[in-house]
Amino acid sequence: MKDIIIAIDGFSACGKSTLAKALAKKLNYRYIDTGAMYRAVTLYFIEQNIDYTQTNQVEKALANIEISFQNINQQNTTFLNGENVESKIRQMYVSEQVSPVATISAVRRAMVQQQQAMGKDKAIVMDGRDIGTVVFPDAELKIFLTADPQVRAERRHLEYLDKNEHVDMQVILDNLNERDRIDSSRADSPLTQAEDARVLDNSNMTPTEQMDIVLDWVEQVQTASNTV
Ligand code: CDP
Repeated sequence: MKDIIIAIDGFSACGKSTLAKALAKKLNYRYIDTGAMYRAVTLYFIEQNIDYTQTNQVEKALANIEISFQNINQQNTTFLNGENVESKIRQMYVSEQVSPVATISAVRRAMVQQQQAMGKDKAIVMDGRDIGTVVFPDAELKIFLTADPQVRAERRHLEYLDKNEHVDMQVILDNLNERDRIDSSRADSPLTQAEDARVLDNSNMTPTEQMDIVLDWVEQVQTASNTV
């Protein structure tokens, strides 16, 4: 079967990474969590006190940021300049700053360039907000995930509880809504559904049910591209 690029976009906490990880494992593809990259940049800005309204500070900071991923105990783990930042970047103080940071064009340019380089050999599943529209407009399979906001907040709440962290449901819901608002309305690469994306509302689906649907789509796309 021909290697393809699978782009998964959608709103905050609608299960993109759960799907992307499982799919990558099944197909033996690379998985890239682009949200983790924007979160790592945000963490750097916070820790280094970068005033991200100042272009020169942002440009200088970006030149000093190196983001990479490693598989540790079967978990995709994010590194920022050699430090494992996987748990820090998921904290609410990062979630509260990440969408404003992700509106900055210089930040997006730097991230998109790295993401495109990661996908040059295909065989990749990448999730984010602009993957099917900007990073890989020619991706063979584009998926746009949606889910009911209350369901998304409950899922994120459970993820925090799993890590023994209690974050108030309302705080989570407000953060998801606010990020969706900023992500969808920004000037540079707003979150929108690519015209050729397949839409999946997984509000009432288990991960297995959603995986079965998507594997059918992968098969359809691979069959089509093998006959071209
Ligand atoms: O996992 P969750 O849905 O909470 O979000 P994420 O995928 O970790 O992304 C965090 C934030 O990064 C988003 O709310 C966007 O502001 C930004 N982002 C983006 O602008 N473009 C991407 N390709 C991925 C994430």
